[in-house]
Amino acid sequence: MAKEIRTIGVMTSGGDAQGMNPCIRAVVRSALNSGLKVKGIIKGYSGLLNNDIVDMTAASVGNIINRGGTILYTARCPEFIDPDPEKAAAAHAKAAENAKLHGIDGLVVIGGDGSWQGAQKLSQHGINVVGVPGTIDRDIACTEYTIGFDSAVNIALEAVIRLRDTSASHERCSVLEVMGRHCGEIALWAGLCGGADAILIPEQPESANLDYILKVIRENRARGKNHNIIVVAEGIGHSQDLAKEIQEITGIESRATILGHVQRGGAPTALDIKHASMMGAYAVDLLVRGANNRAVAYRDGEYVDFDIDEALAMPKRTSLDIIEVNRRISTYN
Ligand code: ADP
Ligand code: F6P
Repeated sequence: MAKEIRTIGVMTSGGDAQGMNPCIRAVVRSALNSGLKVKGIIKGYSGLLNNDIVDMTAASVGNIINRGGTILYTARCPEFIDPDPEKAAAAHAKAAENAKLHGIDGLVVIGGDGSWQGAQKLSQHGINVVGVPGTIDRDIACTEYTIGFDSAVNIALEAVIRLRDTSASHERCSVLEVMGRHCGEIALWAGLCGGADAILIPEQPESANLDYILKVIRENRARGKNHNIIVVAEGIGHSQDLAKEIQEITGIESRATILGHVQRGGAPTALDIKHASMMGAYAVDLLVRGANNRAVAYRDGEYVDFDIDEALAMPKRTSLDIIEVNRRISTYN
């Protein structure tokens, strides 16, 4: 028989993302409206280890729907991934024990696939867990959307648009580095939507081939284009070096801009708030129904859920079609 849930916990974990706040709001309000008690865990799994846990009321989440960041703070918790498996297992057990001491029998973890792996461990220690995809990276295989992506990618696009003005005025080549340590989705979308000459992503190391980049720049210059935009994902990196090389080899003045954490701040877009609200409420429904070790996802226009183990085993998909289409439409004859 499914375990009856009386008190749920909610936490944000890993890198923050715009939309985490409206997601917390949705979890808290829908849980309270289902007759549950809600506890907020401060700073992800570290909060469970340190008993940094607070009561949440409907008012605790007032006026946060449009705010970036996370009122629950977020963190990486090194104890959970200690290289010594015995120490890591002890941390998982301690966190679960502390959750139980606070009466928490169900937990919503808003974070990326790393955070979901932490949730898996708590599930093995008797806490019913549901993961919600919260990361600007849009790099979780089971879901077509992750909360924060739209806000972040629009900031990256805005940067491309601004860089184009100044690049065109000075007839320069601009190299823009956007976030995505292991994943090129922000670079792909911002590059395509900003009309980049080339997009460099870690999933396709050959996209960073210098000869190809130089060829595109030279061809586009020969066609009369007076500026260039190269979008680089953080996982490729070396943007300053790339700008220097382009300048030295082609003689075209080149500058690198590393956008950084500005992509993770500011108000969430409507798309992020919508997904955050729907996924937060969906996660609570799952816990109320007695679900455990599940992950919320968005696929084919619907909210669905998967076993976390299965979700994490799915092969990651990269929008490589964007590179191919961008190659066709960012040049002309
Ligand atoms: P994200 O959730 O954005 O992918 P991280 O990969 O940094 O971010 O993970 C956030 C936290 O989740 C880690 O600091 C750690 O506490 C926990 N975590 C990550 N991977 C695991 C794992 N394999 N087992 C247990 N906990 C993990
Ligand atoms: O939020 C996701 C992400 O921005 C990745 O693209 C990046 O690799 C990582 O987080 C960097 O986060 P931080 O600078 O907080 O370690």
